[in-house]
Amino acid sequence: MKFLFLFLFLVALTGCEKINEIFLEEDLLQRPPAKRCADCHAEIYKAWKESRHAKAWISEHFKQESENYSKLKCLPCHAPHQVDPLEKPLLRVERRHEGVNCVACHFKEETKAMHGPYKVWSPPHPSKEDKNYTKSEICAGCHRKTYKEWKLARVQTTCQQCHMKVKDITWIMDKFPFLLFHTRKPLHDHTFPAGKATPKDLKTFLTEEGLKIVNVGIPHNLPTADQGNPKLYIIAEVYYQNGKKRVIRKILSPQSNTALRYLEPYNIKIPKYEEVEKVVLKIYRRLAWKKERELILVDELKPFKLAEK
Ligand code: HEC
Ligand code: HEC
Ligand code: HEC
Ligand code: HEC
Ligand code: HEC
Repeated sequence: MKFLFLFLFLVALTGCEKINEIFLEEDLLQRPPAKRCADCHAEIYKAWKESRHAKAWISEHFKQESENYSKLKCLPCHAPHQVDPLEKPLLRVERRHEGVNCVACHFKEETKAMHGPYKVWSPPHPSKEDKNYTKSEICAGCHRKTYKEWKLARVQTTCQQCHMKVKDITWIMDKFPFLLFHTRKPLHDHTFPAGKATPKDLKTFLTEEGLKIVNVGIPHNLPTADQGNPKLYIIAEVYYQNGKKRVIRKILSPQSNTALRYLEPYNIKIPKYEEVEKVVLKIYRRLAWKKERELILVDELKPFKLAEK
């Protein structure tokens, strides 16, 4: 508390400019380890640490696929130096094990400041309000294919609105007592969750042409990937009036160019449609970095028939 009074006294005495100089923590502008940011952004650090961005370099799978980091063209997006809208990043020199880290996404060499969505007063390091942070373009340099798909979908919803939702209105710097000098602001989810499609995101129906599945909810391919190999498993059990059953399986993936495009129906032919009693449809997904499949939807569909007399 004593410190707080001293601080207030200093502000009164010298004004904000001087305070910025006194409280500037020089090392924050020298690309420190991500852990250093946790001194004042503990909540955000904890979230990021759980994210796939923090695992982008140490991922066993990435290590294998990049042949133990020997394929140089694979490295920049998994350990970027600086993130700029739409631009493919350059490879970082220091602390590659941190993957896509705080400094890469926020610190700019040109301004020697942390760029972010807000206009803030941040004595420990200069900050700059930069509205690019609220736009999909900031993700586009690395998520290149997904961004192209999103662009084609022509929706207003940004990547951040689904993958960095507002978690709380609270202090974005959480170091006591200094947080008392700041207002509460929307805190965005730095775990960057992939999310999961829900039955509402998929429209399914039976027609004479077959079973149709349409991605109506996710404004990029399902699944989507630049380099990873996520999959969608479709299992359709077709029950016929004569008691016979047939199982149709499809595996969709970005790698085989079969992923469900936004609003574009995907068709599965059903043999002997006239004799179909019902179709039980199950859809599972597997994220690129996971072993297990997860169920997205179970549905029972009946062929449309004119009312019988
Ligand atoms: C000693 C405390 C302290 C440390 C350490 C610190 N920051 Fe900050 N940071 C602040 C304060 C204070 C604010 C302003 C908070 C507010 O006004 O609500 C801030 C705001 C920010 C913002 C928001 C900028 C904007 O304009 O929207 C970003 C981004 C940021 N910091 C990144 C970092 C990164 C990255 C690190 C680690 C390299 C870091 N900070 C380390 C104190 C700190
Ligand atoms: C510097 C490159 C880079 C930038 C910029 C970037 N990402 Fe990523 N992102 C990656 C990499 C690499 C991975 C995969 C990490 C891994 O799993 O090994 C990833 C993973 C993800 C995942 C997890 C996918 C899954 O299967 O769980 C989400 C969600 C994501 N990013 C969203 C975003 C959003 C939203 C933005 C913009 C705010 C963004 N990313 C900006 C490189 C980047
Ligand atoms: C993949 C890029 C990326 C990484 C990695 C990242 N951030 Fe952010 N950060 C963003 C974006 C984008 C926003 C703005 C989101 C919005 O306004 O929609 C943001 C917002 C912020 C803010 C403002 C408060 C908020 O939640 O909007 C702070 C402070 C911040 N980040 C600090 C950090 C720190 C500290 C780390 C590391 C522990 C970090 N960020 C890692 C992209 C990133
Ligand atoms: C309307 C919400 C929404 C928007 C906007 C959106 N996504 Fe997604 N995204 C999702 C959902 C839901 C999933 C999970 C799909 C599933 O079940 O596997 C997903 C999955 C992903 C994945 C994981 C890969 C996979 O397995 O499918 C990445 C990476 C990703 N999105 C990146 C982005 C980027 C980059 C943008 C912006 C260009 C973006 N998303 C825009 C909802 C959204
Ligand atoms: C342009 C940026 C970029 C480059 C270059 C890049 N990646 Fe990635 N990588 C990503 C992004 C973004 C993701 C997140 C999920 C997705 O979209 O596939 C990712 C995810 C992955 C994943 C799945 C996540 C995991 O950890 O299991 C693997 C494996 C991977 N990349 C391997 C590679 C390999 C191998 C190369 C070189 C041939 C490479 N990457 C080059 C951006 C890039």
